[in-house]
Amino acid sequence: AESGAEIVLRVNGEQRRLRVENRVTLLDALRERLGLTGTKKGCDRGECGACTVLVDGERIKSCLTLAVMRQNCEITTIEGLADGDRLHPVQAAFIRRDAFQCGGCTPGQIMSAVACIHEGHTGSAEEIREWMSGNLCRCAAYANIVHAVQDAAGEMRR
Ligand code: FES
Ligand code: FES
Repeated sequence: AESGAEIVLRVNGEQRRLRVENRVTLLDALRERLGLTGTKKGCDRGECGACTVLVDGERIKSCLTLAVMRQNCEITTIEGLADGDRLHPVQAAFIRRDAFQCGGCTPGQIMSAVACIHEGHTGSAEEIREWMSGNLCRCAAYANIVHAVQDAAGEMRR
């Protein structure tokens, strides 16, 4: 028999109905129940940022929150960022600036960058580094990540 409660999550503009136990993280709900595997699981303990998604426009580490707590929120994952065939400016900038190597951290970096730009923390390379410091990159692509965020911030301001 299935256990857990039926909940509704609003993800990338769609209502998704799923059954989860109370202790299931938002990350596991997205990846394992809804098949949205673009959000990555790195440490599963809040230390790497690979699992970053937007909840009501704010970036959060989805491994640190429970799915049942996020009903009635607007959740955006990397799958929901592009506008049809048109990449989000941050996605385009990451490609243009070669801001990834293995790609393991990239969806989280991109989601975090979207929020960082909206928060207005892009005044300088140092500021970007500081406000993106919750997103680790084992490949140390940091210099190009900062360039990508600067590019995208400039475009999104226009
Ligand atoms: Fe969530 Fe590392 S997987 S912070
Ligand atoms: Fe490999 Fe960041 S590109 S961890």
